[in-house]
Amino acid sequence: MSTQPELRVPHDPGRLPMTLPLLAEKKRLGQAIVMVTAYDHPSACAAEAAGVDLVLVGDSAATTILGHSSTTPVTLEEMLVLTAAARRGLRTPLLIGDLPFGSYERSDEQAIDTAVRMVKEAGADAVKLEGGNEASARRARAIVQAGIPVMGHVGLTPQRSTALGGWKAQGRTAPAAARIGAEALALQESGCFAIVFEAIPAAVTEELMGHIEVPVIGIGAGPATDGQVLVFHDLLGIREGLGPRFVKRYANLFDEMIAGVSAYAEDVRARRYPGPEHSYKIAPEQLEELRRQLG
Ligand code: KIV
Repeated sequence: MSTQPELRVPHDPGRLPMTLPLLAEKKRLGQAIVMVTAYDHPSACAAEAAGVDLVLVGDSAATTILGHSSTTPVTLEEMLVLTAAARRGLRTPLLIGDLPFGSYERSDEQAIDTAVRMVKEAGADAVKLEGGNEASARRARAIVQAGIPVMGHVGLTPQRSTALGGWKAQGRTAPAAARIGAEALALQESGCFAIVFEAIPAAVTEELMGHIEVPVIGIGAGPATDGQVLVFHDLLGIREGLGPRFVKRYANLFDEMIAGVSAYAEDVRARRYPGPEHSYKIAPEQLEELRRQLG
């Protein structure tokens, strides 16, 4: 019996792996880019089979699977394990590893070392970092110059949510919106191949889109972006609660998980499980011999 879960055939087996030129071409052609987070092998296999373009092993893993109340506690070591697991489930989407809080802010050298580990040890194709201030743009440039593609992230950047005044939409005044635009341009100037816009009024995104040349992937940033990203656990309803207002639920797996575990518990308590079909057999003469040995 194989212990390796099988990788399901993608819906289009002839699908080409996503590359940076292909991504830029999608923007040029106005084809919407689909990105989703994944944190392990099964979620990556689902993203592969569904034919998404980009998979992000987000530091949202801290809240979705590690049970923290914010993204800041997740460590680089944890992110490397999760990213490597996702890598093993992917063939065609571009895999982006999120750089966790504390793993790139100190210096360009620290940022490059962290990004190199994401690529060498976890198999990421690219990395993402949060923020577009001068320091973040400098880190992005250093990593790009080291040969690793970088995705930027502006608007609500959860690693700095305390400094931003909480988990709330950003860019709701003209100066704040202009600052987001300037940060996005700085990241683009640093060589980022794409930028995430998170929790920004749709009208602000629409205004900024004409100024950005690289693909913009939105999450709570309205429909004008080149693509959308959602957190795996939010879109599939794997965790309790509705999440932020921009989340659209496409399934309710948490309820199904409870129903499944409850049914199993009932079966065990009623001694309905395991049945003969779940049990291994032994040849009658071997059983006879065992009984003799046991006296
Ligand atoms: O960590 C994450 O999941 C993210 C996405 C929400 C873009 O940064």
